[in-house]
Amino acid sequence: MYPILEAKKLTSNIYWMEVKAERVAKSCQPGQFVIVRTGADSERIPLTICDYDREKGTIIIVFQPVGASTYEMTSLQAGDAFHDVVGPLGCPSDLVSEPVEELKKKRILFVAGGVGTAPVYPQVKWLAKRGVRADVIVGAKTKDLLILEEEMKAVAGNLYVTTDDGSYGRSGMVTKTIQDLVEQEGKTYDVCIAIGPMIMMKFVCKTTEALGIPTVVSLNPIMVDGTGMCGACRVTVGGEVKFACVDGPEFDGHKVNFDEAMQRQQIYKTQEGRAYLAAKEKETHHGGCGNCGGEK
Ligand code: NAD
Ligand code: FES
Repeated sequence: MYPILEAKKLTSNIYWMEVKAERVAKSCQPGQFVIVRTGADSERIPLTICDYDREKGTIIIVFQPVGASTYEMTSLQAGDAFHDVVGPLGCPSDLVSEPVEELKKKRILFVAGGVGTAPVYPQVKWLAKRGVRADVIVGAKTKDLLILEEEMKAVAGNLYVTTDDGSYGRSGMVTKTIQDLVEQEGKTYDVCIAIGPMIMMKFVCKTTEALGIPTVVSLNPIMVDGTGMCGACRVTVGGEVKFACVDGPEFDGHKVNFDEAMQRQQIYKTQEGRAYLAAKEKETHHGGCGNCGGEK
């Protein structure tokens, strides 16, 4: 069992938990994720690691209820426990394998959208610890849905907060701030790392492509096993089939087929949709999860 040491609400629908998961905390890197289950028969929920404390043996997870299982998680309190926490899964962010001296020469821009602010935070913090201060844009629909502002301020070079409704910080979506920074305020960037809803990442990539800024995105399609077996998290990147859980979650955003990924997310939700995908994708579909009627 994996005890919850602290649980709190960051906004009306975003939850924060500190979970004892010693082996994960010991080896995880920014960019990686875990799969949690509340009970032995519960659904497996992939969540990016928002922070970790190697000495305490804890990780921080941040989530928004989007279905029955994440809704069930909202009732968990300090003293409760997850049945399992599997990880760290996925590849660490490319940043962690680059020489720090090279990173120091780079002008790095992070773009965080909504709950996607949580997985951006460990990357910005990791860089700050090594003396690399990145610019960060955090976008939220409205002031009340903004998370981790103070934490991000402490580790970012410049923090630009923007709300869709203009209730706090700048006004408009993150793409407007990217454009304003580059076109009006004379900023230049060597790389952009964008994490948030798929639609946001799609439009960030359109914006940065036009501005000539290479862009990395962190994809979070539906995942089942998280180990490359089931095929649930299939995406197309640069015309090639990739599985976000093992080949990613980070990819070159300018090569991701976002429309296909968003459409597949919808189709995968129903039994009929999964059977359709299994038939369409044939031997590249995998199907080991049994969800699509494929062999277990
Ligand atoms: P949201 O809908 O509130 O959007 C956050 C910000 O993204 C907005 O404030 C806006 O600035 C920007 N944005 C949204 N649509 C845009 C568009 N069309 N063009 C330009 N910018 C746009 O975000 P939310 O409700 O917090 O997001 C929840 C989603 O984020 C879920 O679907 C969840 O799966 C996903 N998520 C992704 C990751 C990841 O690793 N990629 C992590 C956590 C959550
Ligand atoms: Fe990636 Fe199953 S979740 S292949």
